Amino acid sequence: MTYEPCTLVLFGATGHLAQTKLYPALHNLYLEGLLPEGLTVVGVGRRLANKEELQQEVARAVAIHSRGDKEVSEDFLSLFHYLQFDLNHEEGFKLLRNYLMRYNHRRFLFYLAIAPASFPIAVEQLQKAGLTKSAGTWPRIAVEKPFGRDLDSAQSLNAKLKASFPADNIYRIDHYLGKEMLQNILVLRFANSLFEPLWNNRYLRKIQLNVLESGSVADRGSYFEQAGALRDMIPSHLMQLLALLAMEPPASLTQEAIASEKVKVLRSLSPLKNENILRGQYVEGELGGKKVPGYRQEPGVSPNSEVETFVSLRLFVNNFRWAQVPFLITTGKRLPQEGAGVIVEFKTPPQVLYFGKYDLEPNLLVIKIQPQEGVFLQFNAKKLASKEQIVPVQMDYCQNCAFPNLSPRAYEHLLRDIFLGDGALFASWEEIETAWEFYDQVLSLSDLGKLPLKPYRAGSWPPVPWLEEDVCKSTIFPCPSQN
Ligand SMILES: NC(=O)c1ccc[n+]([C@@H]2O[C@H](COP(=O)([O-])OP(=O)(O)OC[C@H]3O[C@@H](n4cnc5c(N)ncnc54)[C@H](OP(=O)(O)O)[C@@H]3O)[C@@H](O)[C@H]2O)c1
Repeated sequence: MTYEPCTLVLFGATGHLAQTKLYPALHNLYLEGLLPEGLTVVGVGRRLANKEELQQEVARAVAIHSRGDKEVSEDFLSLFHYLQFDLNHEEGFKLLRNYLMRYNHRRFLFYLAIAPASFPIAVEQLQKAGLTKSAGTWPRIAVEKPFGRDLDSAQSLNAKLKASFPADNIYRIDHYLGKEMLQNILVLRFANSLFEPLWNNRYLRKIQLNVLESGSVADRGSYFEQAGALRDMIPSHLMQLLALLAMEPPASLTQEAIASEKVKVLRSLSPLKNENILRGQYVEGELGGKKVPGYRQEPGVSPNSEVETFVSLRLFVNNFRWAQVPFLITTGKRLPQEGAGVIVEFKTPPQVLYFGKYDLEPNLLVIKIQPQEGVFLQFNAKKLASKEQIVPVQMDYCQNCAFPNLSPRAYEHLLRDIFLGDGALFASWEEIETAWEFYDQVLSLSDLGKLPLKPYRAGSWPPVPWLEEDVCKSTIFPCPSQN
């Protein structure tokens, strides 16, 4: 795969995602010489008036959010151009088409960093303007998450995209797949002899998948009111994580081979019962010594909102490898600790010799996704100089501790791969469709609001019966525990 000169048309150039993630990622790729030669970026938005204003905004965004060098060069800024128009107006797309005709190449990447409700109209307008094509490796389109809000809306969006772009030119972004440690899960599992022989229901007791945040919904209250914690995180990021952890070894490392194994995992999920879903919503509390408001007091949130800000699910993958091993998936906001990771808990050996006699900790393998990236392994050893005592000891590999800013951010991998035409880090339609089928089938998402909603104080853990305290205490990684 090689880079070809191309033009990135960024819808949502004035938005939060562009500022916090996309501009810093483009800047780091630029510094590392990983942008295509001759790249130009045409930003589209309403708020700014011209390219000078956009360039100022890009410089500001890099200064605040970049992991690397925060100074931008004139050369980098000169990549950015701007068109001000409303996506709902056909005239704007005519303007865009005329503007793009100045380039000798016809290699356009349309990136939809706009509200999901605007994805369909943007695709329709691009088609009407004659900017789409049904064959070749260009133009390409990148679509942000969430890909639909249920099965119907996802299918309808996918049909629109497929009518306008070749299947291989559609990049469905799930930025979790761009994270270093998610890419590392397959390496860990299939490039070592250490874990794979034990990676099954004979040796594993349970697997926790946690994405925990101490932050609030901030200024995204009105978005969150439509989404809630389950829709926002689970059918996309956490299902991808689960599939990578539970899949069989693929026949090769191509996107098709990996996606096909992931889909089999999603199809093997047992229907989710109501008693295996716990929803919570934060109320006023204290965090870092400061009083913080409850969810219902956040801007953009209804004072009677029944939307969950915390959800924990107990899932089972009903196949030979995983029967009876619970996958405990937990995500939420305003929690006492912050971090994303996986905790794999091993079964204890036969209850002879030490087990049964001593109060022993289980073996744990923790895959740390963020903010720390690495692998932590806990096992039992004799306490130094003691005759009888056995204690848990740890091996901790942290790949970004010494140099926290060395690790490329997800969007650097994702943008680089779209420029290269490599779809391996993107969600396939089959994966997205199967995940929505699961959630639509087991629980009509419109009925989610009817399940009980447990209030929890901001800065405390909601009590979840299936998350036991003992494992949480023994790891260095944040994990939900009883208060
Ligand atoms: N923010 C994140 O951290 C994050 C993370 C993952 C995924 N995402 C996804 O990324 C997408 C964008 O999110 P965001 O947080 O960046 O949203 P945002 O801050 O609200 O930005 C929305 C962007 O869309 C533009 N826009 C809205 N209506 C428009 C219209 N009628 N015509 C032209 N432009 C219009 C806005 O331009 P003007 O303001 O100039 O009108 C703005 O640039 C969403 O799909 C979101 O789910 C966001």
